[in-house]
Amino acid sequence: MQANAASDFISRFQFYLCHRNRRASLIGQQLTATGMLRSKVAVVGAGPSGLTMLKALREDGFAVTLYERRLRVGGLWAYSENPSHTTALPVTRANLSKFTCGFSDYPIPDKYPTYMQPHDFQEYMEDYAKHFDLLKDIVFGADVKLARRSDDDTRWLLDVERDGKTETVEYDRIAFCHGYQSKADIPTFEGQEKFEGVIMHSQAYRDPAQFKGKNVVVVGLSSTSGDIIPTLMPVANKVYVSHRRGAFPFSRYRNGTPNDLILNWRRRQIGNFFQRYLPRFSAWLADTSLPFLARRSFDFPFDPDWHLEPFPSITLNLPGSFELLFPYLRDGSLTSLRGLTRFTGPRSVEFADGTELTDIDAVLLCTGYNADWSAVAPFVTTSLPPVKSYDGPPLYRLYKNIFPPAYASTCALLCYSAFGKNNGFSFADVTAWAVSNVWRGVEPPPSRAEMESAIDTHQAWIATECYAREPYCDTSMVRQWEFQAWLHKAAGTGMENLGWGWQGWKFWWRDREMYSLMAHGVETAHAFRYFETGRRQTWEGAREAIVHVNQVVKERFPSEEEEAWWKGRR
Ligand SMILES: Cc1cc2nc3c(=O)[nH]c(=O)nc-3n(C[C@H](O)[C@H](O)[C@H](O)COP(=O)(O)OP(=O)(O)OC[C@H]3O[C@@H](n4cnc5c(N)ncnc54)[C@H](O)[C@@H]3O)c2cc1C
Ligand SMILES: NC(=O)c1ccc[n+]([C@@H]2O[C@H](COP(=O)([O-])OP(=O)(O)OC[C@H]3O[C@@H](n4cnc5c(N)ncnc54)[C@H](OP(=O)(O)O)[C@@H]3O)[C@@H](O)[C@H]2O)c1
Repeated sequence: MQANAASDFISRFQFYLCHRNRRASLIGQQLTATGMLRSKVAVVGAGPSGLTMLKALREDGFAVTLYERRLRVGGLWAYSENPSHTTALPVTRANLSKFTCGFSDYPIPDKYPTYMQPHDFQEYMEDYAKHFDLLKDIVFGADVKLARRSDDDTRWLLDVERDGKTETVEYDRIAFCHGYQSKADIPTFEGQEKFEGVIMHSQAYRDPAQFKGKNVVVVGLSSTSGDIIPTLMPVANKVYVSHRRGAFPFSRYRNGTPNDLILNWRRRQIGNFFQRYLPRFSAWLADTSLPFLARRSFDFPFDPDWHLEPFPSITLNLPGSFELLFPYLRDGSLTSLRGLTRFTGPRSVEFADGTELTDIDAVLLCTGYNADWSAVAPFVTTSLPPVKSYDGPPLYRLYKNIFPPAYASTCALLCYSAFGKNNGFSFADVTAWAVSNVWRGVEPPPSRAEMESAIDTHQAWIATECYAREPYCDTSMVRQWEFQAWLHKAAGTGMENLGWGWQGWKFWWRDREMYSLMAHGVETAHAFRYFETGRRQTWEGAREAIVHVNQVVKERFPSEEEEAWWKGRR
């Protein structure tokens, strides 16, 4: 407790210094130079979240070591043969265009295609890590098995397995950036012990060789099945796709332009306004207009036999990128079935409408992922929402879905915030700055009681507005308008300069070109580094990068050729 008080004092002292100087970023450097308050931080995971966390914390004066169980940076974009590692497959292509994806101070080079592949992303992140000299602080091949508090509750102890040996290391702080999709979500079905074929989760799938000549049922119609089924089709004897609730198809292009370019900062803020003040109306509007747009994105009607409609609510389920399945659905080589309900024999499975297939060799579960809590679970508490009717799973108690209230000034978990991010990796920087600022005392966390109360309120919202409407929903859901607004404020991105208030008008008057590009142009992460706020470092290249990306988009789109490639691909 004494140490907690000391670290609280240090945080508040930093906060005082920071405001005295109005340059938070300098504080980290001053502290580092004196060496007095340098706090040791462990970051877990070298994906986009972990790399930006390492960089941001280091720039703010922390002494950071990152532990990564793979042998390369890139997170799930660094292809792994290990079947217990979630990995993007070589065939995977991003579901967002590169223009809205990259880091805030390291533009995605023009050489990459509009929708990047895993090796592109891995190379981009490798270059990023080299450019900012991050590799020297990363321990590869290091699997963090458990994080716990020291006996006197002053430090974090991490059990790290490397080369078959487990070592315990000590840190002042810890940031878990170990992924939102690290644990396979594996449903079990009645009678599955009778089945003699293969039951496999997509996490372990690497190539279709073992399914050659087989009859395969793929469970789940979303992005992963959208990746995997086209690889099965040429080799399997017959492929079925089973899903319970319909599926909202997402098309990468609309009228020759990447779909994510439709959203810009201004439109996002308008959406957030409606979500905040008229949530029911906003959900109704989204569920009416977006399906209309989705249908319009494809130049053929959806066959009722595909059971896509009625679409699950877009406000509680992200759309899946499975557009490459349509050629197979349309020519009948891929059959869409209702949800798989049970196994009825050594090769038999039954579906919700009573259909039974009796010659099935394999069931491939593309049923999604959760975050893996095994390394962190002991100290993150759970509770049931304070709502009597709620009969769902216990929910993790994290302030802003990031900080365990008992350890908010020393621990952050970036794996529990569905619907929280905006594009690709572009929010990773913002999240990292917010965490750093909370820890540095630039944005001190509220009192423990206030955090617990905020968590209760959030959990009540999950129970009444999410789970009650849709029991299959992801209970790590956040209200985007609230989550992102808080992160921007805590991070000090200065995006209020694009708002409708006085600052917004001032910026508009001073620099209309930039105002227009940032509010109405491509939603790039470089904007988050543009304004000087004293709460995080700016990047001098931001202006040029924003102008460049908008220029490229203007010149390249609409592109019938790019759209035709996706629409006609098989
Ligand atoms: C197949 C697939 C495709 C996707 N496509 C897109 C897309 O197109 N666009 C998009 O925006 N998002 C996509 N996502 C979402 C994905 O979450 C993000 O793109 C991004 O990878 C998240 O970054 P991260 O750093 O949080 O986690 P990850 O990329 O998952 O990285 C986590 C890292 O932590 C390491 N790790 C995990 N546990 C431990 C441990 N105990 N000890 C040490 N290291 C550990 C892992 O090895 C990994 O390197 C996709 C997800 C999947 C599964
Ligand atoms: N190319 C890409 O960009 C790409 C590729 C792969 C993955 N990803 C990302 O990775 C994440 C995971 O994607 P994912 O496709 O693996 O998972 P997902 O999007 O969560 O979809 C899981 C699917 O499984 C079904 N399902 C879930 N639990 C089930 C159960 N118990 N029984 C039967 N069906 C069940 C779901 O629909 P029902 O509940 O209605 O049945 C849904 O169709 C997403 O964020 C996605 O965007 C992206």
